[in-house]
Amino acid sequence: MKPPNMLPFIDLAAQQAQIRPQIEAAITRVLDHGQYIMGAEVDALEHALTDFTGARHAITTSSGTDALMLCLMALGVKAGDAVIVPSFSFAATAEILPCLGAVPIFAEVDAAHFTLDPARLDDALTAAQTAGLSVVGIIPVGLFGQPADMARINAFAEKHGLWVIDDAAQSLGSTRDGKRAGQMAAMTATSFFPAKPLGCYGDGGAIFTDDDTRADIARSARQHGMGKMRYQYERIGMTARMDTIQAAILLEKLKLFPDELKQRQRLADTYKNALESILTPQALPQNTTSSWAQYAVLLPPKNSGGISRDALQERLKNHGIPTAIYYPKGIHEHPPYANYPITQGGLAITEDLCQRILALPFHAWLDNDAQDYIIGAVKDAITA
Ligand SMILES: Cc1ncc(COP(=O)(O)O)c(C=O)c1O
Repeated sequence: MKPPNMLPFIDLAAQQAQIRPQIEAAITRVLDHGQYIMGAEVDALEHALTDFTGARHAITTSSGTDALMLCLMALGVKAGDAVIVPSFSFAATAEILPCLGAVPIFAEVDAAHFTLDPARLDDALTAAQTAGLSVVGIIPVGLFGQPADMARINAFAEKHGLWVIDDAAQSLGSTRDGKRAGQMAAMTATSFFPAKPLGCYGDGGAIFTDDDTRADIARSARQHGMGKMRYQYERIGMTARMDTIQAAILLEKLKLFPDELKQRQRLADTYKNALESILTPQALPQNTTSSWAQYAVLLPPKNSGGISRDALQERLKNHGIPTAIYYPKGIHEHPPYANYPITQGGLAITEDLCQRILALPFHAWLDNDAQDYIIGAVKDAITA
């Protein structure tokens, strides 16, 4: 089978086809009641998200980036504070820090799982100390849907008096050691960007926490720092609410999500079984489930003689198969971040992953024929 057109990398239309009438009805309800800001659907979604994650509080936001920012505000982060973040992530994980005058310390990830390596956190602390900075917290990332080793990271944080924010922008729906994303750290931020495992039709995000005080601060800061009374300001805040229409859409999409997570796992297993002898998929630790935001594989090291990543991408493109590189560079390699400290011992794993990583088309509605076609084309290209 050779598709006439490019396959979608993420097929949002296939998902929409499952629930289009429900989505249209949900949007129509909002148009009818007209409460575009903080309408009843926002509250309903927050309740549904506490049920889904098991967290005590779910606070919806205008984006995942704003969710992270509000977490920092709720934790009282101030100018000059240093925070450990993985460099192998999307820029948002780090960019919120300089926005508040805080300083990212770029830390290393684990070569098999691509998530923050607990064994290298000491090195990151040392780098901060060398730069004369005091570390206040850690932001691990649930990369490509897979939670970091939160038990070890939380234990390290506790030992050193640090807080932890789980950047679960990609990993809502995942579990590790019996805990669901949303419950794995003092505070969690997620994103509902359309391409995320649970996405809306615009920008959106949410915060999860069990802490009443931090939840109150985040709720107030997302509405200009208002207190219980309108136009009474208790703190510096911003506009970071979720639109009612996006909440209405998410309420419908959340109903599909548990089944979609199962489909994602089945598709990830199929890719793994078919490709692990020729490429290296992201390894899944024991007692962990991923929401498989991306299906990423590593090509062999550059000097090992096989097909280059550029050539593989080109060949797959010629067969109508799109691929993507998450991420072509560590955050620390981009000019705006060049002057922030990197971990003692350097970021060799991050830099190597950036050279070798490739994401294949992946979404819950990828059909078996399309996946077989992709697998066949990858195998042909690698073994040619
Ligand atoms: C790891 C990570 N953190 C944060 C974000 C920010 O989310 P948003 O795009 O909703 O602001 C994203 C998503 O794009 C992400 O992948």
